[in-house]
Amino acid sequence: MASGKGKVTVVGAGNVGANTARRIAEKDLADRVVLTDIVEGLPQGIALDIGQSAAVEGFSARIEGTNDYADTAGSDVVVITAGLPRQPGMSRMDLLDKNSEIMTTVTEQITEHSPESIIIVVSNPLDEMTYLASAVSGFPKERVMGMAGVLDSSRLRYFIAEVLEAEPASVDAITLGSHGDQMVALPGNATVDGRPLRELVDESTLAELFQRTRDGGAEIVGLLKKGSAFYAPSSSAAAMVKAVLGDTKEVLPACAWTTGQYGVSDVYLGVPASLGANGVAGIVELDITEEEKAQLGEAAEAIRSKCRELDARR
Ligand code: NAI
Ligand code: 2OP
Repeated sequence: MASGKGKVTVVGAGNVGANTARRIAEKDLADRVVLTDIVEGLPQGIALDIGQSAAVEGFSARIEGTNDYADTAGSDVVVITAGLPRQPGMSRMDLLDKNSEIMTTVTEQITEHSPESIIIVVSNPLDEMTYLASAVSGFPKERVMGMAGVLDSSRLRYFIAEVLEAEPASVDAITLGSHGDQMVALPGNATVDGRPLRELVDESTLAELFQRTRDGGAEIVGLLKKGSAFYAPSSSAAAMVKAVLGDTKEVLPACAWTTGQYGVSDVYLGVPASLGANGVAGIVELDITEEEKAQLGEAAEAIRSKCRELDARR
């Protein structure tokens, strides 16, 4: 990594991309933040607007917008948010065709201009787009990961906090598996102020909390009626950037390449991953039940099958 805090490129200056760039700049996670998009003027305008908040917010990161990948060259981390968002009635998988084309062209550019970067994919369908970015870039698997688990877990923590009138930060909970219906919630690992969640709510409340989390993205799409969530997604992407640029080795749920953990191999799947300067430093194996392991296996198989479809088209 270059000296200083590093350079981050955010591809896609839409709702998620603009807010991710803003959060990275405001938290001074990087020295340079580059925002890029195919729409002329959009990343430049947003970057200028964010930059003009620096004196008020008190950050020193330099932020610039561009339509030219040459300006993204040598990035340490690239966050890819380019692509269509969901509309009401759409599943994430409905975005597969169009977003595959976008992910392919974006990844080719990133590979050429930032060959040493760590890629964090945000575009949906998340698990499949992460695989595609990995396949197109040819980067070592640990240098490509996807953001979903931080978001899904944060949603779950928020819902638990709401039900128990607790502080969200006092809730520990994690979701694994895919970013979709096959999200795997781990009730046995959830705590509030250190107390097991199972002692605090009954099983039917637990089930409702997990289902609301699985449907968390759709609930917001239904309310917004145009586009999907972006505040919590951008927080989540920025948290991953922080761990990578800071080489913190923080364990965050991330879509990472599996090599036998939880009985799953050779597929990108949501798992607890230690994140640092080289990307995924390792996958942590939590103590989970056989049933949860089986659910993870099913999620992995569904992702694998979609990735085979992507391979067949390439
Ligand atoms: P948006 O529509 O606001 O922004 C997308 C941006 O991508 C647009 O500005 C568009 O011009 C740009 N774009 C399209 N093709 C491009 C290309 N070839 N190169 C560069 N930029 C390009 O959408 P939003 O809300 O920002 O969502 C972005 C993506 O992130 C969607 O696929 C959405 O489903 C996904 N998402 C994923 C989440 C996750 O948890 N993984 C959470 C929230 C959104
Ligand atoms: C979300 O979960 C749409 O994947 C996006 O909000």
